[in-house]
Amino acid sequence: MKHSTAAILAFALSLTGLAPPACADAVHEELPASTTYGDGTASCTTCHDDVHAGAALRGAHGMAGDARSPAAGRGCESCHGPGAEHAADEHAFRVAQTFGSREPETAAARVEACTACHASGAQRHFQASEHQLADVACNDCHRVHEPRDRMLDRSAQAEACVGCHRELRSGMNKYSRHPMREGKVACTDCHAPHGGRGPQMLVEATVNETCYRCHAEKRGPFLFEHEPVQDDCGQCHDPHGSVNDSLLVARSPFLCQQCHNDTRHPGTVYANPNFAANNRVVGKACQNCHTAVHGSNHPAGQTFRR
Ligand code: HEC
Ligand code: HEC
Ligand code: HEC
Ligand code: HEC
Ligand code: HEC
Ligand code: HEC
Ligand code: HEC
Ligand code: HEC
Ligand code: HEC
Ligand code: HEC
Repeated sequence: MKHSTAAILAFALSLTGLAPPACADAVHEELPASTTYGDGTASCTTCHDDVHAGAALRGAHGMAGDARSPAAGRGCESCHGPGAEHAADEHAFRVAQTFGSREPETAAARVEACTACHASGAQRHFQASEHQLADVACNDCHRVHEPRDRMLDRSAQAEACVGCHRELRSGMNKYSRHPMREGKVACTDCHAPHGGRGPQMLVEATVNETCYRCHAEKRGPFLFEHEPVQDDCGQCHDPHGSVNDSLLVARSPFLCQQCHNDTRHPGTVYANPNFAANNRVVGKACQNCHTAVHGSNHPAGQTFRR
């Protein structure tokens, strides 16, 4: 962090009441880490005020009655590690774990401070997940010092994810989209941010199983199945948003013609000798007749026309 930026940040934080006691000069010094535990929260809150302290030790982390909670253990030092020397002389020492707020800290070290307690549940998959392999740490997503962790808020989560996954931001505003902005569908309905069973961190082992969670009627079984539907919904749909109807990756007839280019009834405009609008390419194009593209249970449904 550049000198001026740090000073401005310290000033801004002091206005919000979130900052440690102002001491701008010391910000850039590389201080040695403390090695001895103090007495947890009490030795910290004398300097770090209630607003800051309160948020970190509110909610699940503030359950003094729950033996697993930081509040019942070493308080601030449950996450920040030993801090006795820092509490005794904040200009000579830092706490063991600053989570990168002082100087860059490896993702592995930051993760370890959390997995000390969070080694089970969904987080047990974190090791070897795409996020862990890309050096994304717990606190790159979670905000434990804020009253409401943005990750646990279904309507704020997507915005936080596309902060890094920028290429997906526009999808959320496209003509056809899952209702993510409304918080009705969240990224984590389909993805397991701590690592999942499926490819691309999907919550299920395959794309289709993930979709069937909500679109169960597409699972079948059908008397006549359409191969690509059984294979991968993603061949026709982009779950992140599309400029076409129904999240389609391409408009019909082009969608269908990616695979069906030599049907017995050609689908080009030129197939119609009068050059009049060909009902195979206008309106719903192929779906004017092939209405049951996901599969058919009709005895005569082999070409998905009913
Ligand atoms: C005597 C006052 C005082 C006490 C007690 C104190 N701190 Fe600090 N702390 C500070 C100041 C001042 C800074 C800013 C230091 C700087 O910017 O160089 C700071 C900075 C920090 C930082 C940011 C990282 C860094 O080093 O800049 C963390 C995290 C921190 N303190 C945690 C704690 C914890 C945990 C405790 C209790 C074990 C604690 N502090 C006790 C005054 C104190
Ligand atoms: C559950 C773990 C956890 C607990 C408990 C915790 N902190 Fe933190 N603290 C963090 C993380 C993670 C960061 C890095 C900033 C972030 O990711 O939000 C941080 C950052 C800080 C900072 C740097 C300034 C900032 O906001 O970036 C200070 C100072 C601090 N904590 C003090 C405290 C004090 C004092 C307590 C106890 C009252 C405490 N922390 C309890 C995890 C924790
Ligand atoms: C001293 C143990 C401990 C440490 C260290 C710890 N946590 Fe927790 N955390 C807990 C406990 C206990 C719960 C409540 C879990 C439950 O009820 O199943 C919890 C809950 C949470 C929750 C869910 C909050 C909610 O309101 O439901 C999040 C998110 C979380 N922790 C993130 C973190 C992150 C990120 C870190 C590291 C910066 C961290 N924790 C460090 C013990 C810890
Ligand atoms: C890529 C962003 C991201 C990262 C990295 C991440 N989390 Fe989470 N975490 C989330 C989201 C999103 C949720 C909400 C889960 C949901 O909606 O299903 C969550 C939920 C949680 C919960 C509460 C519910 C549960 O699943 O138990 C805890 C505890 C938690 N995370 C801890 C951690 C810890 C510890 C780490 C690091 C090892 C971590 N997280 C890394 C995004 C992340
Ligand atoms: C701090 C930045 C950051 C945040 C925040 C973040 N991610 Fe990621 N994510 C990454 C990086 C880096 C990768 C590694 C692969 C890449 O570069 O796309 C990744 C990988 C992924 C992948 C696997 C991609 C693949 O090709 O296998 C998925 C899925 C994913 N993230 C979803 C999410 C979701 C959902 C959230 C919010 C809950 C989220 N991410 C938040 C940085 C982030
Ligand atoms: C309705 C389910 C669904 C939702 C909601 C969803 N995704 Fe995905 N996502 C998928 C599927 C399925 C894939 C795999 C695509 C494939 O393999 O063809 C994927 C792939 C990805 C990838 C890998 C690279 C890419 O662009 O294909 C990233 C990163 C990702 N999603 C992030 C996110 C984020 C961030 C959010 C929330 C803003 C989100 N996803 C919401 C289903 C979803
Ligand atoms: C968490 C539940 C959920 C999951 C999982 C899910 N969807 Fe959806 N899907 C919805 C909701 C809700 C709508 C909006 C329905 C409405 O507006 O009537 C929707 C709408 C759609 C639409 C129609 C969009 C439009 O513009 O009319 C398509 C296509 C779709 N989903 C495909 C998929 C695919 C493909 C997957 C798997 C990658 C998937 N969905 C996974 C909940 C889900
Ligand atoms: C061969 C291409 C193709 C595949 C593969 C496909 N779809 Fe579709 N899907 C379509 C078309 C075309 C429409 C638009 C239907 C229309 O215009 O009436 C559609 C519409 C939808 C809709 C919204 C309208 C409705 O029928 O509810 C949902 C939801 C949907 N698909 C889910 C899925 C799911 C889930 C999968 C995977 C199991 C899947 N689709 C696989 C082509 C496909
Ligand atoms: C990803 C490739 C793919 C896409 C896209 C696709 N199909 Fe198919 N379709 C197939 C395959 C593979 C079969 C089964 C093999 C065959 O008979 O050609 C099939 C079979 C069919 C059949 C039955 C063929 C028969 O001989 O009984 C019809 C009708 C059909 N598709 C219509 C459509 C329509 C309409 C669309 C666009 C909404 C479409 N398909 C999109 C791959 C695709
Ligand atoms: C006007 C109604 C209509 C439209 C529009 C239409 N089809 Fe068909 N399609 C049929 C009928 C009827 C059959 C059955 C023909 C038979 O059994 O001999 C059929 C059969 C098929 C078959 C299976 C037989 C073959 O020729 O391989 C495929 C694949 C197919 N259509 C694809 C498409 C595609 C792709 C489009 C859009 C470019 C399309 N159809 C538009 C009426 C239509």
